[in-house]
Amino acid sequence: MRSLVAGNWKMNGAGEADLAKFGALKTALAETPPSCDVLVCPPATMIAQAAWFTKGVFAIGGQDCHAQPSGAFTGDISAEMLKAAGASHVIVGHSERRQYHGEKDADVAAKAQAAWRAGLIAIICIGETLEEREGGSANSICHSQVLGSIPDGATAANSVLAYEPVWAIGTGKTPSVDDIAAMHAHLRGCLKERCGEEGGKMLILYGGSVKPDNAAAILSLPDVGGALVGGASLKVADFMGIISAAPA
Ligand code: 13P
Repeated sequence: MRSLVAGNWKMNGAGEADLAKFGALKTALAETPPSCDVLVCPPATMIAQAAWFTKGVFAIGGQDCHAQPSGAFTGDISAEMLKAAGASHVIVGHSERRQYHGEKDADVAAKAQAAWRAGLIAIICIGETLEEREGGSANSICHSQVLGSIPDGATAANSVLAYEPVWAIGTGKTPSVDDIAAMHAHLRGCLKERCGEEGGKMLILYGGSVKPDNAAAILSLPDVGGALVGGASLKVADFMGIISAAPA
């Protein structure tokens, strides 16, 4: 399975200059064809335009979805709406959703099921806090998040797991490569426990302060199937630097 480098723009991007980044990325990818799949998850307001413009070159995804297909949920967006706008993936359970919107594992699992119902690939996020890492419970926290956030029926075709240690997000800090390798090996075991044979094939992305200068070391680790990139995905040159670091 090809690795996946995904950009999560979070709540950034609105004007002409941000739209122009899709053109710049398209040109850069045509000049340097990637050895991985490429996905950008812009704010919802940009998805339709981005998906139309980048069709056939790279994929566009949402950053969250509601569990229901439609209804009286002011301000929310359904997986079906993302699909209709041209998205192929949706991130669910990002730690910022868990932290600022109180989302629990069961909510995340319901959103992943909504993604599949709409024909989207769910990027299911998990990760421990600094307190949990320092307290020695990172493995058990991630184990319980995998068991609770991934619904029955998950396959390597409909789901991707993203491991994002909360303390590495936007901080410039990352776990050591040995720690990333150890956690991904642990997560592979958790996925097999949760999803059987499919869990052995599912991509596991690393996320948290991935930059062009650390991408090659992280992306070449066993069981690291790609990266989920925040800040560095906002700059086309940096994002391309990470994409180019994906092993063939
Ligand atoms: P940074 O790459 O900015 O640390 O963000 C990671 C992230 O949260 C991607 O979802």
